Amino acid sequence: MADMRVNLCGVELKNPVTVASGTFGFGREYGAFFDISRLGGISVKGLTPLPRNGNPSPRIAETPMGMLNSVGLQNPGVDAFIAHELPELRRHDITVIANISGNTPEEYGEMCEKLSAAGVDMIEVNISCPNVKAGGLAYGTRPELAAEVTAVAKAHSAVPVMVKLSPNVTDVTEIARAVEGAGADAVSLINTLRGMVIDVKTRRPILKMNTGGLSGPAVLPVAVRMVWEVHNAVKVPILGMGGISSGSDAAQMMLAGASAVAVGAATFADPFAPVRVLEELEAICDAQGLKSVTELTGAVQPW
Ligand SMILES: Cc1cc2nc3c(=O)[nH]c(=O)nc-3n(C[C@H](O)[C@H](O)[C@H](O)COP(=O)(O)O)c2cc1C
Repeated sequence: MADMRVNLCGVELKNPVTVASGTFGFGREYGAFFDISRLGGISVKGLTPLPRNGNPSPRIAETPMGMLNSVGLQNPGVDAFIAHELPELRRHDITVIANISGNTPEEYGEMCEKLSAAGVDMIEVNISCPNVKAGGLAYGTRPELAAEVTAVAKAHSAVPVMVKLSPNVTDVTEIARAVEGAGADAVSLINTLRGMVIDVKTRRPILKMNTGGLSGPAVLPVAVRMVWEVHNAVKVPILGMGGISSGSDAAQMMLAGASAVAVGAATFADPFAPVRVLEELEAICDAQGLKSVTELTGAVQPW
């Protein structure tokens, strides 16, 4: 059987299949379906300095081969995560990635300090958040803002920092290069694509926030394309996600350049999706006679 271990910027994962932030809570709910220690890692629900209730409902809409969400970072806050959720997660043999969102670079710095002191394995910096000081512009859409928040996170973190890129940009490689230049140890992509669904009878958007983020199988080709572009643009490793719901999807993402992958919305349709993706990926590696799953990374043969 192929060796499924992968290394993501110095952090060893027992296999390349992780679960994406916001789609697996803090792991508690899914423990009823399978042993979460089977997974390579968990990126926890996006944390903020203070607890948040999130956006008003409706905040989920079904779309063709996907879903739109405007959950709005509902979470108990970084201190409650460290006090109650992290010890619970630590009872499992799983790499813990803390996903963080802030309104200012200082908020990111403060959370990085607390989370590295608490012993998470890696920090994933969500830059698809508005920078309050820059008039609400999302960090992830401007190279200089993305670089600034990356540098602050790095300066306050004792563990590797992975920056999560937004797909809502013209050229994702520009942002990837900026965060690599500011010291990011890895990048993850893609976050959700902005979308809108309208109820024709009421003429109202389904989501109370009017717009939301699209994810699920519909976004896979966009994600694979962006991972491939970023792989060709930077040297740091990539955690690839967006639309993965099978081992073949995961293999595509790795061939495009990802060192590891995350399963997100697919878990809502099938709670066993992350382990199924892992088993199917193992079967693909075996069928192709690979010694190590790492042989897939970046091995696409473009025309
Ligand atoms: C309901 C929901 C909540 C999410 N919350 C977060 C979050 O808190 N932080 C974050 O960085 N990404 C968040 N995401 C984005 C996912 O982590 C992932 O990047 C995206 O959904 C694409 O993967 P998928 O198509 O497999 O779902 C969320 C996605 C969904 C569907």
